[in-house]
This record gives sequence, C-alpha cells and structure tokens, in this order.
Amino acid sequence: MSYFQYKNSKLFAEKYSISNIVKNIKTPFYLYSEKQLIENFLNFKKNFKNVNPLICYSVKSNSNPSILRILGKLGSGADVVSEGELLKTLNSGIKSNKIVFSGVGKTEEELKLAIKKRILLINIESESEAKLINTLSKRMGKKTSIGIRLNPNVDAKTNEKISTGKAENKFGLSSKNLINFCNNIHNLKYLKLDAISVHIGSQILSDKPYKKTLDIISNIIKENKLTLKFVDLGGGFGISYKNKDKKIKLTNYSKLVNKFKKNLNCNIIFEPGRSIVGNTSMLISKIQYIKKSLKKQFIILDVGMNDFMRPALYDAEHNIIPVKKINKKIKGPIEFVGPICESTCKFIKYNRYQKISENDFVAITKTGAYGSSLSSNYNTRPLIAEIMVSKNKLTIIRKRQDLSKLIKI
Ligand code: LLP
Repeated sequence: MSYFQYKNSKLFAEKYSISNIVKNIKTPFYLYSEKQLIENFLNFKKNFKNVNPLICYSVKSNSNPSILRILGKLGSGADVVSEGELLKTLNSGIKSNKIVFSGVGKTEEELKLAIKKRILLINIESESEAKLINTLSKRMGKKTSIGIRLNPNVDAKTNEKISTGKAENKFGLSSKNLINFCNNIHNLKYLKLDAISVHIGSQILSDKPYKKTLDIISNIIKENKLTLKFVDLGGGFGISYKNKDKKIKLTNYSKLVNKFKKNLNCNIIFEPGRSIVGNTSMLISKIQYIKKSLKKQFIILDVGMNDFMRPALYDAEHNIIPVKKINKKIKGPIEFVGPICESTCKFIKYNRYQKISENDFVAITKTGAYGSSLSSNYNTRPLIAEIMVSKNKLTIIRKRQDLSKLIKI
C-alpha cells in the first residue's frame, strides 16, 4: 500500500496533510514515510522468506543515517561502495559482519579500512584489486574474505545508463576470467574466496534476466566444483514509476533462488536499493513562476536538477502531482522545469493537467531512491532538507544545508 494518499482532495503523507507541512517548512524538501520504508523492507523479506537471505541494503540509493538506522534495526545489512558509505553504515549501528563492499575502483585506503573492520565480503572486480587486497592483508596480518563479481553478459533490458551486466560494461570479471582466477587463487594466501557476486543492472522489470544469471552462476559453481559460503545476487529490482510500468514478479524467482541455494549449499545475499526506498519519498516543491511560450507553458518549480538528478541524467519520468486537487483543467502542453541554467533542468511534460497557479505546491513522486543521494551543490545551491513522518511526528532527518558554509572562501 502507499502511505501517500489523497484525502478529500488533499495530499497526505501518512496522517499529515502536506498543505499543512509546507506552512512550516521551506520548500523544496524530501518528505519520507517511515511506515512505507518498514513495510517495503518487510515485504522484500517476506517475498524471499524460504531463502532466508542476508539483505544488504544498497546504501548508495539513499544514505540518510536515519534510513540506515531504521533498516539496521529491522535486521538489514549493507552494500557499500566507498569509505564514506562504510563509515556511515557502521556509525548507524549496522555491524561489519553484515556489510559487503562493491565497486571497480576501490582505493588502498578504502581497502585497508574494509580489511581492518573485517567486513563480511569485499566483492572484487579485477585481478589487480585481489592482489592489492592480498598484499594489504599480509601486511596487516589478516586473512580477508572476498567475493568475485561476475559479469555474466546478460542484458537486463533496462536503461542503457544503468545496465551493468553486459560484456561492454566495466563491472566484474567475465566467466572465463573468473574461472581462471579461481584456479589460481591459492597463490593469494591472505584471501579467502567466500562468494561469487553479481549485479546486472537497476530498475529491472522482468525476472527473465535474473533467471538467466542464476543458471550461469549455477553452471560455473558446479563445473568448477566450487564450495562457497555465499552467492550474492545483487539488487536491481524495479518499481513502477509510471502506471504503465509492469511490476516485477518475484515469487517465481524466489522459488528458483531457493532451489539454487539448496542445490549449491550456500547462503544468499541480496543488495536491493530502489525497491526498499524508491516509493518512500516525495519531493515537495513550490511553483515559482508560470510562463507561456510559443509552444508550451513552463511551470517553473523551486526544485532543480541539482536536488533531483534522475530526469536530467536518465530521462527518468516521475509523475508530478498537485498537493491540492481541484476540478478545473488547463489545456497543455505544460512542462515542469527547474531553475538551473541548463536545458536538462526539466522534469516532465503533460498534455492535460488540473488548473495550477504560482505559489501552489506540487509533489514529485517516488523520489526516495537516487534522489537525495545523487544531489549536489551545482549552481551553489544548498542541499535541501529531508523530513520523515515517523511515529506520529515529523522529524528533520537532514537539515537544509547552511548557505553561509557554502559561500565561505
Ligand atoms: N548492488 C550493486 C553492486 C549496485 O551497483 C547497485 C546499484 C545496487 C546493488 C542497487 O541496485 P537497485 O536495487 O537500487 O537497483 N542512479 C541510478 C541507479 C544506479 C544504480 C547503481 N547500482 C538511477 O537513479 O536509476
């Protein structure tokens, strides 16, 4: 269920009317529902109940400490990709034995920290990285658990820019290289090969590429008689941003993963990001100006591409809905745009819309994943606030950045 709903034409986040919230909090801001977050995590867990996986929430999708704390309390582990994410995750209370570290370019400092903290797995993405971890581990007198990331050359049929499992993508090792590496790993005495990991892309809406990947991993493990503690199947589960987006059905996949786990006698890790946080937030914004042009009407918002990058980066479409519904219509086309001096600072176009006016408020929907975490100070704009509806109160989970700090020279 969605915890963002209209009641008598007014948009609510749980039991809070957004029209009331904007009276006290300056727009733009991200508004989250804690109930939605908890429900998403528990639903994910329920879906894979038989598999009993370790769920390592992908921190890059939203690294707000409050979100990490809530998920940590629910039993989540974490998938991190930098020193910053690792430290933030540990600070939020998630234990190192539930943390996996991915990424093609981990630095020596990052690897040292991961070795020192004895995280569950460093998922290596090249032979050179493995050698460096071996050298560092030797120096630090430790044996380090690693996973090898496989590039299965599977097309996840998702947006080109967020596909990661094809041969032309920079991620992981090809099957052949992975097998070669496994055959020689005994030379790297300070490494313990505990896992194969994979992540084929993001916003995946079909279970077919997942099934294909499962078969490929299964063959590799069987043919090479590998004994692994874990297989890390990554994330990528899509959500429906538009009404016409199909929802990915995971029940069937869950059964297959269960079979796979029993056959190969290993534990399963997932690294979901978007499916846990995507629909937990709306981005609330004020209409600054309305301007008619020859071709369309521009609805100029106070939120910019620096606050929410997905439309500019991936041509992603997020619906924008009014905070107060009214029955009058205007004729389109209209285009919602932001204030940044770039033509890509635009959000979505409609041919029909309800009547809207300057100073009205609107909500960009499903902005919880890769929203705040991708935001920047471009145009010297402060990072915006993040507010969470949680347990009968509104909590500021990130303060709007102080402009005075930003302009200090
Ligand atoms: N594991 C690894 C190794 C990843 O690289 C990613 C995401 C995930 C897990 C989580 O994937 P998810 O479940 O969230 O799809 N900024 C883009 C998405 C980039 C995804 C990068 N990797 C967007 O806004 O669509």
